[in-house]
Amino acid sequence: MIIMAAALLILFGATVILQADLLPDKKFVLLPPVNFTIKITGLAQVLLRWEPDPHQEQRNVNLGYRVRINAPQEDDYETRDTESQCVTILHKGFSASVQTIFWNEHSLPASSWVSAEMKDPPGSPGTSIANLTCTTNTVENNYVHLRRYQVSLRCTWLVGQDAPEDTQYFLYYRYGSWTEECQEYNKDTLKRNTACWFPRTFINSKGRDRLVVHVNGSSRHAAIKPFDQLFDLHAIGNDEPTSSLEWFIIALMAAICFVLLIFSFICRICHVWTKLFPPVPAPKSNIKDLFVSTNYEKAGSNETEIEDISYVEEAGFEILEDSVF
Ligand SMILES: *[C@@H]1O[C@H](CO)[C@@H](O)[C@H](O)[C@H]1NC(C)=O
Ligand SMILES: *[C@@H]1O[C@H](CO)[C@@H](O)[C@H](O)[C@H]1NC(C)=O
Ligand SMILES: *[C@@H]1O[C@H](CO)[C@@H](O)[C@H](O)[C@H]1NC(C)=O
Repeated sequence: MIIMAAALLILFGATVILQADLLPDKKFVLLPPVNFTIKITGLAQVLLRWEPDPHQEQRNVNLGYRVRINAPQEDDYETRDTESQCVTILHKGFSASVQTIFWNEHSLPASSWVSAEMKDPPGSPGTSIANLTCTTNTVENNYVHLRRYQVSLRCTWLVGQDAPEDTQYFLYYRYGSWTEECQEYNKDTLKRNTACWFPRTFINSKGRDRLVVHVNGSSRHAAIKPFDQLFDLHAIGNDEPTSSLEWFIIALMAAICFVLLIFSFICRICHVWTKLFPPVPAPKSNIKDLFVSTNYEKAGSNETEIEDISYVEEAGFEILEDSVF
């Protein structure tokens, strides 16, 4: 009896130990990432990078990271990568934090945060430009073998209130991986640049990238603070002419649809007419004749008409797409 009780006790103890081992999460501590850095990789673009702590226990769990952008604009997202690209204005500085998390177990505690920050660029207050506005215009390109659409960009701004008289401003835009400096400026009476015009750019008016505009400056008397602005291309005042070819195809499709519609209408009337005034039935000569007449009835039915029309629509859509891209 005593031996049995002892055996049960041992069994119980073993089970408890086993269970503790099966639940590693309680003792499994996540360590924050190491070597977290922020690097500028383009106009208004930074790359955040970190490494997992080499002392982090692995034990078959999926680890991920939660990134929090603190400034200039709060944002929060999760990733399994150890780097992340961020597009944001940088003239007010940038700061972000990252922590290690269990990828699929959000109830379990995450690691502590590590943070990194980038100071705002040097410059006296009131020296950066103000009231930047930009417009794009898409024009049709008539040259064969070149881009079909050419996007021009025009930006205007006000000189900073406290900018010295000798201040000169320089405008750059970035679209995707393309960065260009403005070559054609308009000047105020003090010969300071206050507007810029790019007759052609690498902007894709149908693309999804945001347009970045960066204006910095120089003066002998003060450091000029740079200024960034991001533009959603579809939010800029964007007039895109429909080419004459597109109009021609649209008109052609409309005409075809119209003719088909009339045709089917006439068919239907004829059908009704034959039903209202059936021709004098002639005696069927043989089975083959009957077969043919059944087929004829089917061909006149709605099903075939619908098929015809949808086929034409599909063909038109393809041509349109082709001429656009
Ligand atoms: C962190 O950076 C230091 C210094 O550059 C380097 O020696 C170390 O290997 C890095 N750690 C990891 C985990 O990459
Ligand atoms: C410039 O922008 C500020 C703030 O948005 C506005 O109050 C001011 O009227 C603008 N100035 C001009 C000349 O448009
Ligand atoms: C302005 O910005 C461009 C692009 O980052 C840079 O190449 C240039 O040196 C800057 N100029 C000044 C005066 O800061």
